[in-house]
Amino acid sequence: MDSVYKKSLFDIPDNVIYLDGNSLGPLQKGISEASERVVKDEWGKKLIKGWNEENWMRQPSIVGNKIAKIVGATKNSIVAGDTLSIKLYQALAAAINMRKDRKIILTDSGNFPSDLYIAHGLIESLGNNFELKVVKPEDLITSITSEVGVVMLTHVDYRTGRMHDLEKITSCAQKNGSVMLWDLAHSAGAVPVNLKNCKCEFAVGCTYKFLNGGPGAPAFIYVRPDLIKSCYSILRGWLGHKSPFDFDYNFKKAETIDGMRVGTPPVVQMSILEKALEIWSDIDMRDVREKSIQLSELFINNIEEKCPDVELASPRDPENRGSQISFFYNNGYAAIQALIDKNIIGDFRAPNIMRFGISPLYNNENDILQTVDSLEGIIKNKTWNQKKFLLKKPVT
Ligand SMILES: Cc1ncc(COP(=O)(O)O)c(C=O)c1O
Repeated sequence: MDSVYKKSLFDIPDNVIYLDGNSLGPLQKGISEASERVVKDEWGKKLIKGWNEENWMRQPSIVGNKIAKIVGATKNSIVAGDTLSIKLYQALAAAINMRKDRKIILTDSGNFPSDLYIAHGLIESLGNNFELKVVKPEDLITSITSEVGVVMLTHVDYRTGRMHDLEKITSCAQKNGSVMLWDLAHSAGAVPVNLKNCKCEFAVGCTYKFLNGGPGAPAFIYVRPDLIKSCYSILRGWLGHKSPFDFDYNFKKAETIDGMRVGTPPVVQMSILEKALEIWSDIDMRDVREKSIQLSELFINNIEEKCPDVELASPRDPENRGSQISFFYNNGYAAIQALIDKNIIGDFRAPNIMRFGISPLYNNENDILQTVDSLEGIIKNKTWNQKKFLLKKPVT
């Protein structure tokens, strides 16, 4: 296995152990300079000429193609932009449009709440003719029936890290005539994904987690190449038009993946993301996966040996886990705050889950062992039991 450990390329503060890349990836070296250059030299000096001279208008597809390499998608099948919630809305509307005769959208209780809210809102705007059916993850396969038009799932569960079998579920959905839509928020840059092999119709994801694109970095949408031309667009912004600068009063969707663009791209944030994605050019996701499993196993084994009050919330079988390890602990919120106080950063999800994202690009064995040692001390000595750690902050 080639070494995927590239911590020297990151700008993580000294003495910080960062285990929260599943929420917000860290800053890489050179990004601050790159963004300053965009602001000062491109925007500052070129002003509006930047759209042509710096190719700002093409950034969403340039970035989309870099993401495509990481998630095994064909060139020109991914475009970046907007937020994940918006891209999910677009993909779901397009998926529903392909199977209007079927009234059930199937999802599971491991999905992220935003995806469920978006689905409910869309269903309401379609006159409540569709139903969102939420089943337990283990009941998914048997719930894919001939009434299901769309199967909409998040690949890796944000709380527990439980990972679905992308190809098996997609193939089951398609054998049944249902359209498959995957949310890859916790998969892109975390686990190998091969959209070409998987053949799902739609996928969406974000870039601020394991892809390290920065807070609020643009999301992405994938449409299977054979569907791009005819794919339905619910959000008809001018940049999804085939020739936006004709300023035509009628929307004519671009026949390329640009048809899933909406409005003006956030140029500074796109430039940061484009730079952040450079690190992936010589990384093989299989190596990332191998190392991620090694680190995760080390973490689980040591926690179970040293912290008996803590219970594994993630699947024990690495095949069923993403790149995140979660533990149930009733004082989990305060324990995470006490860890953060020691410069070890994980996070918490209500009601009692401590989450630790593992990115082999900047995490190693030492980080894991130090985290276990610190958590052991915090639990044994009840260090968590202090007002400053018990007080809930707005972002957990
Ligand atoms: C699985 C999943 N889907 C959707 C979202 C919402 O993403 P955004 O806030 O970028 O719209 C998140 C956010 O963390 C997520 O984890």
